[in-house]
Amino acid sequence: MTEKDRFIIEGGHPLGGHLRVQGAKNSVLPIMAAAVMCRGESRIDNVPDLSDVRTAISILRHLGAKVRREGASLYVDASSLTAHDIPDGLMRRMRSSVFFLGAILAACGRCEMSYPGGCELGPRPIDLHIDALRELGISISEEGGRLTARVEHPRAGDVHLAFPSVGATENAMLAACAIPGTTRIRNAAREPEIRNLQEFLNAAGACILGAGSETIEIRGGRPLHPAHIRIMPDRIVAATWLCAAAAAGGDLFLDEAEEETVATVCRSLRRAGVRIDRERGGLRVRSTGRLRGGEVIRTQPYPGFPTDAQAILMATLAKSEGVSIFVENIFDSRFRHVSELVRMGANIRTEGRTAVVCGVPRLCGCEVCACDLRAGAALCVACLAAEGESTLFHVSHIDRGYENVIQLLNQAGASIRRVAGEEEGGKSGM
Ligand code: EPU
Repeated sequence: MTEKDRFIIEGGHPLGGHLRVQGAKNSVLPIMAAAVMCRGESRIDNVPDLSDVRTAISILRHLGAKVRREGASLYVDASSLTAHDIPDGLMRRMRSSVFFLGAILAACGRCEMSYPGGCELGPRPIDLHIDALRELGISISEEGGRLTARVEHPRAGDVHLAFPSVGATENAMLAACAIPGTTRIRNAAREPEIRNLQEFLNAAGACILGAGSETIEIRGGRPLHPAHIRIMPDRIVAATWLCAAAAAGGDLFLDEAEEETVATVCRSLRRAGVRIDRERGGLRVRSTGRLRGGEVIRTQPYPGFPTDAQAILMATLAKSEGVSIFVENIFDSRFRHVSELVRMGANIRTEGRTAVVCGVPRLCGCEVCACDLRAGAALCVACLAAEGESTLFHVSHIDRGYENVIQLLNQAGASIRRVAGEEEGGKSGM
């Protein structure tokens, strides 16, 4: 696999059979960070094989943890950590490297790292993380792009987040576990992945209540022992497969998909004419591929419509009857898929945070480029629904969040192959 790999997708094949929804990327990454706080070997099950997970493994090994993978289980032994810093090269590879800040502080009392990388979705500051940690008495200095943090005068208490940031909530939870006394995170993010993190930490001996609500209470200062957790199914991957079947048509069963965590996406798809039924073990989705537009989608923190599914639903409704409106409220720059969808024949205009999608009867296969993870997933959905062959470039973005995507979709009836970047015919300079 290289940065320049591409997918060749022949569109127009309906999807059928079964697709399993993998473990959630945005749950496993903070839990891997949390494992550094446990003295002994923790076991994490249902771990997807993703490039972001491999980056987190490299960070754990740099810190001195022993990590081994057996099938879908990951064993992390952080009994003897030897470092409390993260090199810049690892920080840049993904946004989630920032979760290690709270976890390393809890484990070592100090931490050094640079600013995290991740998808280009507009500015992604970490001021809320830093403010929350400072409220816990952690001193943080920033110099030359490096952060140096130290637990100097720890104090449990109230931490109020100005915005319910997922990452800041998780970082504050992790750091507060090591601070004696009761910390309450107010205006906390309510994403289901935060409940999964609470479950892991409590299994390790922490005492945390309220994840999934606006206030999370952490009774800190307890030593953590190794724990065992199963990663929840990935709700954005579930949303992606729902949208793929909706757009391409077919009758597909999504093993392990949970309707509660993708309720807003299901609601929009049902209104577009897609049949989704909760059946034993997952969700069944049936679609003729002919969809009705007319939706107004506003992205919001959970339980609102997820920003991570915005591009994917837009690609789905690009081929529909009627006008749909998307308002992106979470990130400043999350419409970079629009120009690529337009190349495929979509009729979409954007102004600021709003995109107006006038549905068209067909999309045409062509050369398109994935500029971030979910934009890549969205374009994959559009290519599956398009007439003719498409080439999707920069699929390394998709590898960050989707396990075995080609094998799974081909088993469900799609026609996709991967071409290595070096092979002839590659498009350069994208
Ligand atoms: N924000 C700040 N300051 C901060 C933190 C966030 O201004 O200190 C802003 C961000 O710039 C953004 C908004 O608040 O505009 C939301 O950011 P949040 O912190 O909630 O997001 P995150 O923790 O960086 C996680 C997911 C993202 C997902 C968002 C929103 C992980 C590893 N990442 O990011 O997932 O889009 O929550 O739900 O959990 C993805 O999987 O493709 C992905 C980008």
